[in-house]
Amino acid sequence: MSNYRIRTFEEYEAAHKKSVENPEAFWGEIAEHFSWHKKWDKVLDWNFDEPKIEWFKNAELNITENCLDRHLKERGNKLALIWESNDPKEKFVRLTYRELHTQVCKMANVLRSNGIKKGDRVCIYLPMIPELAISVLACARIGAIHSVIFAGFSANAIADRVNDAQAKMVITSDGLNRGAKQIPTKRVVDEALEKCTSVETVLVAERLGWAPNMVEGRDKWLGEEMDKAHKDCVPEIMNAEDPLFILYTSGSTGKPKGVVHTCGGYMVYADYSFRNVFQYEESDVYWCTADVGWITGHTYIVYGPLLAGATTLMFEGVPSYPDNGRFWQVVDKHSVNIFYTAPTAIRALMAGDEDDVLSYSLDSLKTLGSVGEPINEEAWHWYNSMVGKEQCPIVDTWWQTETGGIMISPLAGITKTKPSFATLPLPGIQPVLLDAEGNEIKENEQEGLLCIKHPWPGILRTTWGDHERCKNTYFSAFKGMYFTGDGAKRDSEGNYRIIGRVDDVINVSGHRFGTAEIENAINTYKGVTESAVVGFPHDIKGQGIYAYVIYSGDNTDPKAIRDGIVQKIVENIGKIAKPEVIQLVPGLPKTRSGKIMRRILRKIAEGDISSLGDTSTLLDPEVVDLIIEEAPHVKQKS
Ligand code: PRX
Repeated sequence: MSNYRIRTFEEYEAAHKKSVENPEAFWGEIAEHFSWHKKWDKVLDWNFDEPKIEWFKNAELNITENCLDRHLKERGNKLALIWESNDPKEKFVRLTYRELHTQVCKMANVLRSNGIKKGDRVCIYLPMIPELAISVLACARIGAIHSVIFAGFSANAIADRVNDAQAKMVITSDGLNRGAKQIPTKRVVDEALEKCTSVETVLVAERLGWAPNMVEGRDKWLGEEMDKAHKDCVPEIMNAEDPLFILYTSGSTGKPKGVVHTCGGYMVYADYSFRNVFQYEESDVYWCTADVGWITGHTYIVYGPLLAGATTLMFEGVPSYPDNGRFWQVVDKHSVNIFYTAPTAIRALMAGDEDDVLSYSLDSLKTLGSVGEPINEEAWHWYNSMVGKEQCPIVDTWWQTETGGIMISPLAGITKTKPSFATLPLPGIQPVLLDAEGNEIKENEQEGLLCIKHPWPGILRTTWGDHERCKNTYFSAFKGMYFTGDGAKRDSEGNYRIIGRVDDVINVSGHRFGTAEIENAINTYKGVTESAVVGFPHDIKGQGIYAYVIYSGDNTDPKAIRDGIVQKIVENIGKIAKPEVIQLVPGLPKTRSGKIMRRILRKIAEGDISSLGDTSTLLDPEVVDLIIEEAPHVKQKS
């Protein structure tokens, strides 16, 4: 394993063995490859009970020196970032490592001159423009904790996150492009900040040339600030366990939680997983289509590739604009070698015209990746033959916001792929399957709850401001284990196939929503007495959102009620959480103790009423028949 890159299956096996037998030696050797101001006293100290997990104890570093400065000597003129616009006719932007370094240093100085210091929280609500990557890195440069908020979230969702983090600054833009649409991001931030008191400064990047409202004394144009900024910036020296960022994600309860990642461990894991899974070679152009608003964009657009000295492509647009060939046009235009996307995008493109793919050569591609949800076999084969021409290994990468980086995945060209299987754990990762009682299932060809039994450097450390919640959500279900919330199967060769969430989390197009979060939004609509939200299989999105709502208000027009409910969801979360179906129901199936029987609601949402199970123990069994009578999916099927 030279330069901690595994190059053969034998090396994979040896690395895995070593990582299990002596995790500290394994990770300690990998960490030697980074630039530290001070090395660690101990590689790992941990217990999963509190939980308390410390990697590279008392080491000191700055992650941006590892992403940028250390590459300047050998890769100063290499492209670090290629930015491709939403509009294919707009000129792309290319920044070398040296240029990106300068931009990050300038922006870091802008943050400092606006009163931001180590430990302060900065919320970033930006479209996929270079300023987004630069802002993230600028925060890291000065030790400010960034919290990126996906630019599709609503004003209320921003306000919740800003307030929870008590952010001092928000960085946004005048507006954003998404396909043919333009969206006034600054206006959304202004609305959010009516509910926030912690924010002192708003920096506004210019993207559309609009003239948004600028609040005197609070709002500043980023461009003007950058013009004044010096290009040298001494990095803040961080302890390995200082927080690097917060990223809010949905769970089974109503309020999204702020997953916290720290500087040292996250750095080591982002780089290690990037190099090994994608088998990046020095001249490769790498493109991950995710948004930096999600963990995939953090680890595999910004940090991982830059740590590895790679050329990373950032795309502002969507796969369907101006037409369904856009991804492939970008691949050919920039000679992309490694392409990493989500099953939902693959399925959407698969449903379109074959010529949209066949019109492009795609000759540069050598590795394909998938992330965010299980990839069904049909989509896997289409991706493999139409895009990869059966020449490119597909890495189906399983991981989570909480894991910081890829956990179970083939290593491109090194370990075997298997359609719809994430396959084997990366060396350093120790997955186990448990039964409902928490007993480890040691045999293969079995299915169980997916847990991880030993820490890895990228594991979350806490949930912001509420450590108890971190403990209860991930470390309390099974003693001594990190519980993923996913169910998985293991085949005869030890390959893992992820089945999906076993908790109240719905995965729509690779984005996580808690059912309670959506129910809370629905319940704010006047006249709604109660609601229950479940996921159901959706051809393109993986899962769709199905809401059952009891309405007892004065409105008699069902369409107006549904529209009103959608409006509440859009206001509280964002358009991305719009339900596919809203069914107004007279009641909900409940047990005698008042618990909603979601299993029954899921079955009805699927349109499968053949196996509802025993409903006689319900408080009001007739309600099930009444729901079925009106259920649109069941009707379609019968
Ligand atoms: O259910 C799993 C699914 O996405 C969840 C994590 O969501 P999030 O934190 O938003 O991160 C998404 C990007 C890493 C997991 O609990 N998931 C993610 N990748 C896969 C997957 N399910 C199956 N196969 C995958 N490759």
